[in-house]
Amino acid sequence: MLPINVDLTEKTILVTGAAGFIGSNLVMELLKTVQKCNIVGLDNLNDYYDVSLKKYRLSEIEKTNKKGSKWTFVKGNIADKGTVENLFNNYKFDLVVNLAAQAGVRYSITNPDVYIESNIIGFYNILEACRKHPVEHLVYASSSSVYGTNKKIPYSTEDKVDNPVSLYAATKKSNELLAHAYSKLYNIPSTGLRFFTVYGRAGRPDMAYFGFTDKLIKGETIKIFNFGNCERDFTYVDDIVEGIKRVMQRAPEKQIGEDGLPLPPYRVYNIGNNHPENLLDFVNILQEELVSAGVLPQDYDFESHKELVPMQPGDVPVTYADTSALESDMGFKPNTDLKTGLKIFAEWYKDYYKIQ
Ligand SMILES: NC(=O)c1ccc[n+]([C@@H]2O[C@H](COP(=O)([O-])OP(=O)(O)OC[C@H]3O[C@@H](n4cnc5c(N)ncnc54)[C@H](O)[C@@H]3O)[C@@H](O)[C@H]2O)c1
Repeated sequence: MLPINVDLTEKTILVTGAAGFIGSNLVMELLKTVQKCNIVGLDNLNDYYDVSLKKYRLSEIEKTNKKGSKWTFVKGNIADKGTVENLFNNYKFDLVVNLAAQAGVRYSITNPDVYIESNIIGFYNILEACRKHPVEHLVYASSSSVYGTNKKIPYSTEDKVDNPVSLYAATKKSNELLAHAYSKLYNIPSTGLRFFTVYGRAGRPDMAYFGFTDKLIKGETIKIFNFGNCERDFTYVDDIVEGIKRVMQRAPEKQIGEDGLPLPPYRVYNIGNNHPENLLDFVNILQEELVSAGVLPQDYDFESHKELVPMQPGDVPVTYADTSALESDMGFKPNTDLKTGLKIFAEWYKDYYKIQ
């Protein structure tokens, strides 16, 4: 396991996308477990999905026991250079975790502009700010979507990922390339994290498990793509957060190469469950947990609310993470099983939407 070389205690940390699903969970974990840190969350609270869910997550952060740590929320856009520059000037961040992005594969087909704005220009602004205000470690979200229709499984960070099949994937791969160049040119320690289908309480309503639940409650039919022949490495959000926290504490070392120039302090990891599930099995477990939490009645007729449909553009049939590098370097691999994770989601859903 790599030794810890970044102590988070008393550090000033920027988390972008802090009102988002993963960002809010990360902020709460840091506030609960790190002594006297100063966390600044930046988010533009855009309306890609229900803004009240983002506000709810911020209210959960407010309620967190902060152990002498400080929390500040700033509403702003990473694509606005002035906003990012002012923030770095004011706070002198020790670490940056960039989670702000326009997510979603299907939305990138109808709304490409916002992907270029948030994921490319926004990330470039973060890199430029890290160049001018050196940080101990820049950690940023990439995605399993960079693997496109990779034939080899499990997906390894050693695999060639030059064939993205969506604009979203292309922006995430671009983030890795930009980070590599900035790490090399300006000696910025950076680690990119390829997350694999993250789910959990207060998750993203645009993702399948959440959308299926919304539809089943309304008595609508859910569409199961690729006729159910899809496998996904579903990863519970707490595992993602644990992975991010461990990675934050282990920055790639700065080294000088044979040419006398810095070797890029740059790494990329997969964070996934390393155990893909068939979409139909996933839906079956979701159904069981929705019934057991009381979101849906015992006698719900699931069969008449399912439709098997072909694959959608930009989708991939399988995602499966090779997590050996994460395990050997960080001493950790995701381990929450679907039944446990979906139970937590179902119970949260019942409570949040006040289902009687
Ligand atoms: N959830 C997953 O399954 C998954 C999988 C792979 C990668 N990722 C990546 O992880 C990161 C976090 O994902 P998430 O699931 O929490 O998504 P999310 O949409 O819930 O969170 C992203 C947050 O960033 C904010 N944001 C978007 N554009 C912004 C901008 N220009 N300026 C400031 N804030 C902005 C949004 O308002 C949102 O609150 C994203 O980069 C995403 O691409 C997520």
